[in-house]
Amino acid sequence: MSTLDLFGDSPEPSSRHNAQQQALSVSEQIRQLRDQLHHHGHLYYTLDAPEIPDAEYDRLFKQLQALELAHPELLTADSPTQRVGAAVLEAFATVRHRVPMLSIRTETDTESSGAQAFDARVRRELGRGDSDPAIDYVAELKFDGLAMSLRYENGVLVQAATRGDGESGEDVTTNIRTIGQIPLRLKVAHQRPIPPVLEVRGEVYMRRDDFEALNERQRAKIAAGAKGEKTFVNPRNAAAGAVRQLDSGIAAERPLSFFAYGLGDVTPVSEGGPQFTSHYEMQQAFKSWGFPVADQIQCVQGAAGLVEFHQSIAQTRDRLPFDIDGVVYKVNDLALQAQLGFVTREPRWAVAHKFPAQEELTTVLAIDVQVGRTGKLTPVAKLAPVFVGGVTVTNATLHNEDEARRKDVRVGDTVIVRRAGDVIPEVVSVLLDKRVDSAPVFTMPSHCPVCGSDAVREEGEADHRCSGGLFCSAQRKQAILHFAQRRAVEVEGLGEKLVDQMVDSGVVKTLPDVYRLGFVGLAQLDRMADKSAQNIVAALEASKATTLPRFLFGLGIRHVGEATAKELARHFGSLDRIMDAAEEDLLQVNDVGPVVARSLRTFFDQAHNREVVAQLRACGVHWPEGEPAAQAVQPLAGQTFVLTGTLPTLSRDQAKALLEAQGAKVAGSVSKKTSYVVAGTEAGSKLDKARELGVPVLDEDGLQQLLQQLLAPVTDPALNTTESTK
Ligand code: IVH
Repeated sequence: MSTLDLFGDSPEPSSRHNAQQQALSVSEQIRQLRDQLHHHGHLYYTLDAPEIPDAEYDRLFKQLQALELAHPELLTADSPTQRVGAAVLEAFATVRHRVPMLSIRTETDTESSGAQAFDARVRRELGRGDSDPAIDYVAELKFDGLAMSLRYENGVLVQAATRGDGESGEDVTTNIRTIGQIPLRLKVAHQRPIPPVLEVRGEVYMRRDDFEALNERQRAKIAAGAKGEKTFVNPRNAAAGAVRQLDSGIAAERPLSFFAYGLGDVTPVSEGGPQFTSHYEMQQAFKSWGFPVADQIQCVQGAAGLVEFHQSIAQTRDRLPFDIDGVVYKVNDLALQAQLGFVTREPRWAVAHKFPAQEELTTVLAIDVQVGRTGKLTPVAKLAPVFVGGVTVTNATLHNEDEARRKDVRVGDTVIVRRAGDVIPEVVSVLLDKRVDSAPVFTMPSHCPVCGSDAVREEGEADHRCSGGLFCSAQRKQAILHFAQRRAVEVEGLGEKLVDQMVDSGVVKTLPDVYRLGFVGLAQLDRMADKSAQNIVAALEASKATTLPRFLFGLGIRHVGEATAKELARHFGSLDRIMDAAEEDLLQVNDVGPVVARSLRTFFDQAHNREVVAQLRACGVHWPEGEPAAQAVQPLAGQTFVLTGTLPTLSRDQAKALLEAQGAKVAGSVSKKTSYVVAGTEAGSKLDKARELGVPVLDEDGLQQLLQQLLAPVTDPALNTTESTK
């Protein structure tokens, strides 16, 4: 507790009180310090609204510790210093519950009938007819933690016990004391005298963020080689483990929280006990005595009110900072509760309406590897069907090799599967004690399971990818769409729906098949009108005359974008030279690094990719080829041009192509590094910027002149004095 982080900024000095304090008796000083620490602990842990910096809290805490050390006879169990540091126990003592800890009947249907059935039962038991008014209920969350009974005598926490079998549980007081949210001493509340005996019942749980942080720390310990450490499967499990720690020092490191929801043993009203008339009022009293009560508690009327609560919580469940497994309905009026009484071991006045579980156990039947549209290989656990999170789950992704290895899921394993909200199902963990020894470790395949091409995992990447590219059927749709897009070979009208139809109907098995379909093949597709088929045929025909950069980009080789395709085309001049280039030759190209070079080599090393290229050519796809750049002159290499406004005869694309053909780069904005700005009519801010920076400005004539001079040996001294290579 002394390490709690209240604010972190510098404190107000507390020393000004020292002179006053010396005048007080030691026991009075201790009493005051404890009051202050209880008050500020409650503000910090339960209300989340601290009023003093943590350094000030620490100072008060240390003062109290020092006084208690000097006067051990004044030490009491409810002192804030007693939250940590109890001796390690051999075993927990058994506690007999004076009032048994009952469980409640559970409704599990997902619809409203659970609430309606409960309301109907209550009305029947109470003899209410159809015309009688609706019953008042309290609707609460069903927290997914473990039940705890906290006993206070004269306002001081004297015992904390688990539910056990309902009759007797375990004495876990030292661990429970470490939970900052649980008052060691009841807060004095206005008009609510503290009862001589009060057992408050509620749920100990772990918040999701605290759970994640705890597991993070556990993983770090395991990575550092710590023995006997493990991660926890869910917050409930982590909370239960912490409560049952024999070493309260360890329990103190596990961040636990608490919500109050019920009453156990209590002094009767006749002997000065509290006189509550409703469950809601009792919850408010718990709050004023310093216990956390969930904000979501609601007073509602009749079955309709319960149904509405159930629905609203079902929708917001995933946004809560802690896990719940349902909602609880309780008759609000305590006199009616007494009238309803119990049946076997369950109260008739309460029911739990559960949500479908978000975690279930199942077994792994197989681990398949699926190929995504971009060639990514994903290991997927095939599961024995299990109903979880409201649906039947048969698959759960293992994401990639590292994830699969981290979770070490094997065929035959019993696993915990989680599906929360709309999130895709995942394997949370493996129950290792149920593993069959012979279960082999899963490894990623070295070849694509669909097409047999090499499966490659590049350095620094998490995913394996199929290198089959166009040949791999799983990647075909994506590949066709990529090839047909406007910036590549451009086949107008060849969109996602049509490609899906072509591939799904089986008429298109490879990219070249698209060109071979013809009118007859296209017209056979479902819902394909003759006119549309004709349009596609015409678009395919038009797409055959393309350029090398567009074709190369259209092949969809990983890491080869438009700019790289242009650089490659310029450098090598022909596709054959690119296909045959060694990695070191590829590295000579502008913008081509080892990753791109390897990707190109991998792609063209697959015979089927070469075959696809050959077939596309055979279908008539063609482009002009040229000489390799090493022999061609690149007089504008290293120079940057910016085009702005409308030129009289050249389109912007044409001007760009002319410049790029000479090795120039065409950029979108003007900087000091810009060699020339080519301006047409209605040139705007780029022209202003060029003037401001003193960048030479050309009109179309000037550009044409410049290009013509480049064809002849360079003689114009003006061309040699640009700022191009600053
Ligand atoms: S009332 C006699 N209220 O659910 C009625 N229980 O079987 C006592 N639980 O393990 C239970 N949230 O720990 C009640 N708001 C809530 C609850 C709740 C969770 C747990 C409780 C017990 C089970 C009920």
